[in-house]
Amino acid sequence: MRLQCFDLRVQKKWALLEMARPEKLNVIDQLMLFELEEVLTSLRLHKVKAVVLTGQGKAFAAGADVAAMAEMDSQSAQEFSALGNRIFQLMEDHPAVFIAAVNGYALGGGLELALACDLRMASSKAAFGQPEVNLGIIPGFGGTQRLPRLVGAAKAKEWIFTGRRFSAQEALEAGLVSKVLQPEELLEEACALAEELGWKSAPILSLAKQAVAASGTGIQETHGQREAALFGKCFATEDGPEGLQAFLEKRDPVFHDR
Ligand code: COA
Repeated sequence: MRLQCFDLRVQKKWALLEMARPEKLNVIDQLMLFELEEVLTSLRLHKVKAVVLTGQGKAFAAGADVAAMAEMDSQSAQEFSALGNRIFQLMEDHPAVFIAAVNGYALGGGLELALACDLRMASSKAAFGQPEVNLGIIPGFGGTQRLPRLVGAAKAKEWIFTGRRFSAQEALEAGLVSKVLQPEELLEEACALAEELGWKSAPILSLAKQAVAASGTGIQETHGQREAALFGKCFATEDGPEGLQAFLEKRDPVFHDR
């Protein structure tokens, strides 16, 4: 399998999956989503029991590709959001356990990708955030559903409405990550956990994952579709395109509440 966006190393019972476009801060575009789908299929065939997902360079992933989104209209934005929702849902439905090793920026879609994993560990240098509102849009890859389920509606609303960045320590206190580690220890610890899970029974791990999903921590199909429809609507406003354009022009957005 030829991949442009990822490096995949399959061990016997677990795998290390690295986002491999550090010069782009591992931004999430259509190509990356389609490659992720391919990788998920391959991981099923390899019957790995755990997968460590991390980012090369200083970012885990700095979000969905703003340059690509600046070209979208309401319809294509809705489709992009629906695509992200569908692929991230495949991770929740996957038999393997996904461990996000959040090494740096996990912003917007990058945070949503970490949220779609089963477990999250963070480097003390990681920085989290759902900055979408400051770009005139809303989270579109499941963040409006998974974040409140993980940290409660109050904290999720604070983070989504303000778009402010928050630290690994804050993420730990909110229950978003299970551990904060020194940067040089993060990957080793995440891989050790994957290795430990590699010794469990595959069907039992998968059944445990399905059972926890049924507790309501998972995202429901209809909720993802609703998020995609609302995400698309942002692009039919004046402020949405202005926010995206302002980021690309490296200036503050001027919102007119339209
Ligand atoms: N989409 C598209 N391009 C992005 C991007 C994104 N989400 N995030 C970063 N980039 C690009 C930058 O525009 C820059 O490109 P350039 O070298 O052509 O100018 C490059 O990646 C490196 O980023 P840069 O901003 O120079 O790095 P930094 O270390 O100064 O800042 C961040 C890092 C993550 C704080 C900053 O890039 C940022 O705020 N990114 C956007 C995060 C965001 O809002 N994500 C949600 C999108 S919905």
